[in-house]
Amino acid sequence: MSDDALLFPGSRSVVGRGLAFGLRLFYRLLYNEMAWSYDLVAGLVSLRQWESWVYSTLPYLHGPRLLELGHGPGHLQVALQEQGFSVIGLDVSRQMGRQAQRRLTRRGLKARLVRAQAQHLPFANNSFEQVVATFPSEYILSAQTLAEVWRVLVDGGEAIVAPLAWITGLRPLERAAAWLFRVTDESPEWDERWLAPVRQTGFQATAEWVTLKASRVVIIRAVKAPLLTRTPRNAQSANSVSPCFLCRGPLG
Ligand SMILES: C[S@@+](CC[C@H](N)C(=O)[O-])C[C@H]1O[C@@H](n2cnc3c(N)ncnc32)[C@H](O)[C@@H]1O
Repeated sequence: MSDDALLFPGSRSVVGRGLAFGLRLFYRLLYNEMAWSYDLVAGLVSLRQWESWVYSTLPYLHGPRLLELGHGPGHLQVALQEQGFSVIGLDVSRQMGRQAQRRLTRRGLKARLVRAQAQHLPFANNSFEQVVATFPSEYILSAQTLAEVWRVLVDGGEAIVAPLAWITGLRPLERAAAWLFRVTDESPEWDERWLAPVRQTGFQATAEWVTLKASRVVIIRAVKAPLLTRTPRNAQSANSVSPCFLCRGPLG
């Protein structure tokens, strides 16, 4: 069994793997050429719960200086700006940048968006009190990204990540969606070992659950504890599989 399989246990059936492979290709398109359809797809697969999953990070965010990684179509950017935060969004996809820019402009908000990889953050050390990412793809667990997040956070700063959601509703459609995510490994059971690379970077990491009407979201809080400040060690890279949902795609 590979390290990834240990870190990310889940369906390893032929059907499950085939579906997961097809989905990876699809997500690659979804973040780029088909970014215009992202909201539609996210709404469909989540049974219209996607935005509430994204917004479930809001109670954890206080800034004042915030960086959002993988902003996608920009819903959190809008919500944070409307709450008066100074937030910068970063995404590697040009098309997602355009989607987010349009969404912000339509609401009369200023787009403060950067096109870059999370593994190479174009910001000075200690620039943000918080870094947030909702449903990030594999990049979030790479040693390089974690080291970069550590670098740009101030001492005592915090990364808030919503990597996974589970549909828990009992209606037939909800059960069917939950089954689909299970067999494609899109929504595996939570495994505490997913926190290992985060902790190896030096963060104090914990996971909390937010319960919504017909679903549950896990929120990872990773604190750059001032008393433990040290140069981050290189975490074991776990970037070939992501514990996350609608988040595949070899983009970084
Ligand atoms: C599943 S989407 C999540 C979008 C949004 N945060 C949400 O919750 O709907 C993942 C996003 O991460 C971006 N992304 C993928 N790899 C990245 C990387 N290495 N650096 C920065 N952004 C990346 C994709 O372009 C995409 O917009």
